[in-house]
Amino acid sequence: MTKTKIAPSLLAADFGNLQRDVEMVNQSEADWHHIDIMDGVFVPNISYGMPVLKTIQKHATKPLDVHLMIVDPNRYIKTFAELGASVLSVHYEACNHLHRSLQAIKAEGMKAGVAINPHTSISLLEDTIKDIDVVCLMSVNPGFGGQSFIENTYEKVRSLKELINNKRAKTLIEIDGGVTSRNAKALVNAGADILVAGSFVFKSDNPTKTIHELKKITG
Ligand code: DX5
Ligand code: ZN
Repeated sequence: MTKTKIAPSLLAADFGNLQRDVEMVNQSEADWHHIDIMDGVFVPNISYGMPVLKTIQKHATKPLDVHLMIVDPNRYIKTFAELGASVLSVHYEACNHLHRSLQAIKAEGMKAGVAINPHTSISLLEDTIKDIDVVCLMSVNPGFGGQSFIENTYEKVRSLKELINNKRAKTLIEIDGGVTSRNAKALVNAGADILVAGSFVFKSDNPTKTIHELKKITG
């Protein structure tokens, strides 16, 4: 089995020291930079947009994992490809034609991700799972960092893993929201491949060490 990837979410970074925090991730054992884009419509919060992402891209040396919490994400697929995204995730709930969006993301050379809200059933991915590179399972309601983990997520990870195996898909499972050293191992045991961690990393005394601990726990 491949090693669990850790993707620190820059939403919890210190924006006054963005370069420093991006470089901390570069030099740490983290695998991806997780980038949360919120539009104030799909979710009740606005995070940051293209100019900030451009700065992140300038300093980042690891793949950019971009999580779009925006309505009508098709409008910006090309833009995020130009901004250096390696993985681009759109929300299931924001796409009328999910299959088309996935093809458009891949046509731009990125890995195609689908994020699903806590209320969205895994079974809705049955017909697209083979086209999805990464499913981002939201373990909080999207919009804010620092929320507590929804326990029902474990069950969803297990049924998603079952769906992936049944369909012989190669999809990776990413968990986003409320990840800490307390739930990391259980999530991996349930089938998670990538763990996003915002507050737990950036609000800790030593973020580099916290990333190391998450890597160690998850093997
Ligand atoms: C929530 C975002 C998450 C968030 C995670 O809407 O998608 O990526 O930054 O933050 P924590 O780890 O603090 O829950
Ligand atoms: Zn996210």
